[in-house]
Amino acid sequence: MTERTLIVIKPDGVRRGLIGKILSRFERKGFKIVELKMFKMSREKAEEFYSVHKGKHFFNELIDFITSGPVVAAVLEGRNAIEVVRLMIGSTDSSKALPGTIRGDFGLEITENLIHASDSLESYKREYKVIFE
Ligand code: CMP
Repeated sequence: MTERTLIVIKPDGVRRGLIGKILSRFERKGFKIVELKMFKMSREKAEEFYSVHKGKHFFNELIDFITSGPVVAAVLEGRNAIEVVRLMIGSTDSSKALPGTIRGDFGLEITENLIHASDSLESYKREYKVIFE
């Protein structure tokens, strides 16, 4: 089923010069980039974007990090996009992410894990509103 998902290349990915490498993996796989935006998240937007994690022990560190520099958000379109893109980014803890995934190939950290991707259609709709509307 053709569907859409949202990714955010986090400040570590942008600082390390990995925007092109990360986006090209999705293009190589066959996804179409239908929206693309580079911007710095305000604290307000960040807290809204990550509202499901409010109250968790890593929340403050996460908000400090995601607002620490520009991010690149994109909407990707293709077959089973939500599930496939999650597979391509790998486990949240980059030290446990499999080689061949983005986190597995480029990172070792948990908070600074390079990229976010929507985990469900509901998350996609909510996150799209926060970032693109
Ligand atoms: P992300 O997939 O964007 O969703 C929540 C983010 O919180 C996660 O990636 C990490 O960047 C960050 N995070 C920091 N510590 C943890 C943790 N212990 N478990 C899950 N996510 C964490």
